Amino acid sequence: MVTFKLIYTIFTIVLGSSLQFGYQTGVVNAPLKIIENFIRNNTFERFNKTLTNQELEIISSVVVTIFPIGGLIGSLFGGIIANRYGRKLSMMLMAIPTAIGSVLMGISLISEMFPLLIVGRFIIGISCGVYSGLTPMYLTEIAPLKFQGASGTINQFVIVIGVLLSQIFGLEFILGNANNWNFLLGLSLIPCGFQIILLIFCPESPRYLLLTKNDTNGARRALQFLRQTKNVDIEIEQMQLEMENVAVAQKILSLREIFGYRYLRFGIFISVGMHLTQQLSGINSVIFYSDKIFEKANFTSTNANYATIGVGSTNLLITFLSVILVDKLGRKTLHLIGLSGMFIFEIFLSICLILSDHWQPLMYFIMVFIFLYVGSFGIGPGAIPWFIVAEMFTQESRAGIVSIAVFVNWTCQIVIGLGFPQLLTRLGNYCFLPFVVTLLISIVFTYWYVPETKGKTPEELENYLKRKVDNFDIEEEPLIVNDSIGPIRVDYDDRV
Ligand code: GLC
Repeated sequence: MVTFKLIYTIFTIVLGSSLQFGYQTGVVNAPLKIIENFIRNNTFERFNKTLTNQELEIISSVVVTIFPIGGLIGSLFGGIIANRYGRKLSMMLMAIPTAIGSVLMGISLISEMFPLLIVGRFIIGISCGVYSGLTPMYLTEIAPLKFQGASGTINQFVIVIGVLLSQIFGLEFILGNANNWNFLLGLSLIPCGFQIILLIFCPESPRYLLLTKNDTNGARRALQFLRQTKNVDIEIEQMQLEMENVAVAQKILSLREIFGYRYLRFGIFISVGMHLTQQLSGINSVIFYSDKIFEKANFTSTNANYATIGVGSTNLLITFLSVILVDKLGRKTLHLIGLSGMFIFEIFLSICLILSDHWQPLMYFIMVFIFLYVGSFGIGPGAIPWFIVAEMFTQESRAGIVSIAVFVNWTCQIVIGLGFPQLLTRLGNYCFLPFVVTLLISIVFTYWYVPETKGKTPEELENYLKRKVDNFDIEEEPLIVNDSIGPIRVDYDDRV
């Protein structure tokens, strides 16, 4: 079932998008001080202005957070673009802003124009925002049901590779120095170029072709390519069944219409909740600011860099494990295990931080607990929210709900990006305690509300949502069948 061409397609999808996302998430962590120096000198030489420390701090936080701000904007359009142009063409189109952003960041040092850095990061943020909805959707749609979890988890696995690569290339003796940091940031151009070429030979998502475009022959060809067999009738029939059940070929629901259905609102509640559990676990306080945290725990700046690479490596190792486990143990179980681990290790981490002023060797425990905390994130909360949303809905509402959830994810990234330094300043060694509370809420939420999606089709999951709200009777779903254009859905009358 897992064929070479499927692997090729998955590899191509994640090469540009997930890798870029991870890489740009982690890339300014290490060279931030050097970039600040450049901005200070550049402003003086070009604009004849001496920046105060406070002004520099503001510009520096703009450099960090402009990327998720771009991501937030991109996430708004992800669903629309994916439905209008298809998964494959959208991905190709997004290579354009990715390349422009990379080049702008790359030339900011040479042209001695620091605003180019900010504009470049903003533009690449937009494409990463689109990718963050598009990639999990494309991956979920091409995978056989049995490997859907693994296929979705690969997105996160490659995001984490991107973060780790940025941390390694960001070491001072590689590219994280005053002469080369622009190459460090502009490096995104290389995978972007490769992706464009490799995408040419990838098929469009068969689900998109059949369920959105009503192109059965195209879907059949795409499936034959991916499965490397002529006999794809069963999968085609499954999709046709979905089409008959929900009449998706006639309609892709707009966001307004999506909100009109109670069971979809409940689905949005779960989807947004899942992304909140991911982001409010506080993971990005570590991913964005680990160097600062380690230095606060008395690590030297070089050791802090290496400890950060330790964070990235742990994340990678455990995420790999979750690729293997996710289709065996299920999404909900792994997510709960991960959140519980994060909760426990966050408590230990806070205790060590609070006591570290009295006993120096605790700094090593701090490092170990940060690794364990990030490892717990890798086992479930890292990957699962990204694809569980795509799994839960049929074609008519999938793209819309994915973009709502992804929008919330990016918003939280901005909040953590801007807010955590404040927490660090105001709460000092108690800075992780708020996440202990949010993690506890997340565990309860997941336990109560999140359905297990493993091995279930989107229709089964939507039926689950319908049953949950008001015991909606799925047997009585009204459908009028019009022979010429297929079934047309009549409203369920569950609008309010
Ligand atoms: C997930 C999160 C992202 C985080 C990354 C770290 O992809 O969505 O915000 O930076 O994991 O591995």
